[in-house]
Amino acid sequence: MTATKRHKRFKAQVFCFVCLFVAVFLATATSHSQRPASVEQRVNALLARMTLAEKLGQLQQLDGEGNGTFRPEHPDLVRKGLLGSTLNVRGAQRTNQLQRVAMNESRLKIPVLFGFDVIHGYRTIFPIPLGEAASWDPSLAERSAAVAAQEARNSGVHWTFAPMVDIARDPRWGRITEGAGEDPFLGAAFARARVRGFQGNDYSTQDKVLACAKHWVAYGAAEGGRDYNTTEVSENTLREIYFPPFKAAVDAGVGTLMSAFNSLNGVPASANTFTLTKVLRDEWKFDGFVVSDYTSVRELINHGVAGNEEDAAAMALNAGVEMEMVSRSYNAFGQKLLQDKKLSIATIDEAVRRILRIKFRLGLFDRPYTDEAGERSSLMRPESIRLAREIAGRSMVLLKNDRDTLPLSKNVGSIAVIGPLADDRGAQLSCWAGDGKEEDMVSPLAGIRAKVSAQTKVGYAKGGDAKGDSSAGFQEAINLAKQSDVAIVVVGETADMVGEAASRSTIDLPGRQLELVQAVQAVGKPTVVVLVNGRPLSIGWIAGNVPAILESWMGGSQGGNAIADVLFGDVNPGGKLPVTFPRSVGQIPMHYNYLNTGRPPEAENKYTSKYLEMPWTPLYPFGFGLSYTKFKVSNLQLSAPSITANGKLTVSVEVENVGRRAGDEVVQLYIRDPVATMSRPVKELKGFQRVTLQPGEKRRIQFVLDREHLGFWNRAMRYVVEPGEFRVMVGSNSVDVLEAKFQVTTN
Ligand code: BGC
Repeated sequence: MTATKRHKRFKAQVFCFVCLFVAVFLATATSHSQRPASVEQRVNALLARMTLAEKLGQLQQLDGEGNGTFRPEHPDLVRKGLLGSTLNVRGAQRTNQLQRVAMNESRLKIPVLFGFDVIHGYRTIFPIPLGEAASWDPSLAERSAAVAAQEARNSGVHWTFAPMVDIARDPRWGRITEGAGEDPFLGAAFARARVRGFQGNDYSTQDKVLACAKHWVAYGAAEGGRDYNTTEVSENTLREIYFPPFKAAVDAGVGTLMSAFNSLNGVPASANTFTLTKVLRDEWKFDGFVVSDYTSVRELINHGVAGNEEDAAAMALNAGVEMEMVSRSYNAFGQKLLQDKKLSIATIDEAVRRILRIKFRLGLFDRPYTDEAGERSSLMRPESIRLAREIAGRSMVLLKNDRDTLPLSKNVGSIAVIGPLADDRGAQLSCWAGDGKEEDMVSPLAGIRAKVSAQTKVGYAKGGDAKGDSSAGFQEAINLAKQSDVAIVVVGETADMVGEAASRSTIDLPGRQLELVQAVQAVGKPTVVVLVNGRPLSIGWIAGNVPAILESWMGGSQGGNAIADVLFGDVNPGGKLPVTFPRSVGQIPMHYNYLNTGRPPEAENKYTSKYLEMPWTPLYPFGFGLSYTKFKVSNLQLSAPSITANGKLTVSVEVENVGRRAGDEVVQLYIRDPVATMSRPVKELKGFQRVTLQPGEKRRIQFVLDREHLGFWNRAMRYVVEPGEFRVMVGSNSVDVLEAKFQVTTN
């Protein structure tokens, strides 16, 4: 072959190769263009078209009017692309109205994200979250969150500021009501369940909402239990106690978090780079966004870390708070901060990207509106109401039942229903009640009246106000008790005593309610106390003197009916305390998973860790609750005497219903690592199961322990399982347990 020929042939080969390449390229490009753009592509395409003002607009959330409408200034802000989200604006028609401005009149047609606090129900109200946690049945929380999501989304709400997953070890703090109590393991289980219930697998669907795990982080550790107060929590304790429910929420796919009001180890949570960036974004790979709590960006000034709003905006946004709730520092100063190089465009873009990503995942660009015709039929469906009653019943905790005072007979001749909470529907609704209406609630009195037979006489005497200092109503209550066969005294807290900004300096029954109980008890009739409350109360006298006590929490729409179900035996109570009940406010903080101290309390030895005036033990321990039947937990078995640090151990026990009624027992598993490089809690919950057993029925319950349960964060802040002896305890509360030991060996 000549050189020219070889050259020609080479050229032909190159030509063929290029043709093939172009053909393949075109084919791929066409198939790409036919495939819908991914969320990330859509986000980036949109971002590329946005002005700085429009970007900052996406970072802004503003509050509506008190009644759920938007404010007069909102449409214009939306039209100009300066408002990305609102809170409290709800109702299909109202949200659609504002959404139409975004979709038809704004340049980029970015939908508005409507947020609202749907905490324990939207219109159908479920028990307060603390009560729901007392069911020790996370599947119930998933179901109630699903109903709340369905009602909310059909009412134009895309996003709930829930679940509140703050660990709370201080019952003075009013917001203990909103979470799952004191334990990280139980808290994580409820966090996971609630996120699943709100968001499902795909929160773009018409029955789901975007969830928000709050308040990131350690808000519940407020000093003195005083709301918004400072917190000092070591990194170990953050990782062991306060982080786990948030981690569970993130692992369950929660789309957003809310940065808390409190300062954490001197750095406010809404400007805390460690928690917002290092942990959340870098370690946990969270790809959703963080919204500030209400004006918590501006409050950085009061915290004393920002000299003015401009600094506050830079600190919060740089730390990783993407959306600003209510205060407007990002919008007011974003441009100047950029010019002054205190903020980079990359930071702003990243914040916008995260928010748009979630708006796409919510399906808002494709379906921005809510079907106005479907709203009404989504609310308070019969099955939702039935579920509210079931959950309220399963949340109740029987604290005392001497001489089988409960259940009461429905045919008892006459009943005195007494107490300021007996006919208080607002207390059933409780705090953060979404769009719930007092008139839809069933009071305990109404529930009892509906339950008993036609012949039973039900009398009612309020006895005084929950918070008042008058005893004027006592005599009427005493007279009624005298004329009745049984007295049911319903005492506790009103709705305004729980939730945000409702910290108390005592956990006694407020007002003169204890005296009312004492006066009624003194009449000598069988007396039952029903507690309606949102926090542990110190009820030592009642526990010592009244034969039966039912902790009913604040039960929601069907609270009163559920109380009656339990009092009269249609429901056998099976709830357990998700939080310790101290004897007195002076014992706080008091939680079951404490460290041992160098001088554990000993009755005979003064120089040990205890109090002079009262025992060191609680009134009712974590995990405690009785039933109308009796259970026996026995025969604790381990699958092996030792496992490696990465191994698995199966722990099982038998639980038997040795009474005469069907009932539920919550079998609880605790561990202790008695010798480690850091002091470990005397007990840590690592497993629980609620089971229903018929009389005489016996079942073996199994738990599996592994690395996830046995390890801890060591001094070098690494998660380790340290070899050595472990103890495992299984029982019906955190005190009454069977115990066994096993060894963990190096891998
Ligand atoms: C609360 C949050 C709540 C927000 C919006 C704040 O005062 O701390 O829990 O989500 O208001 O209503």
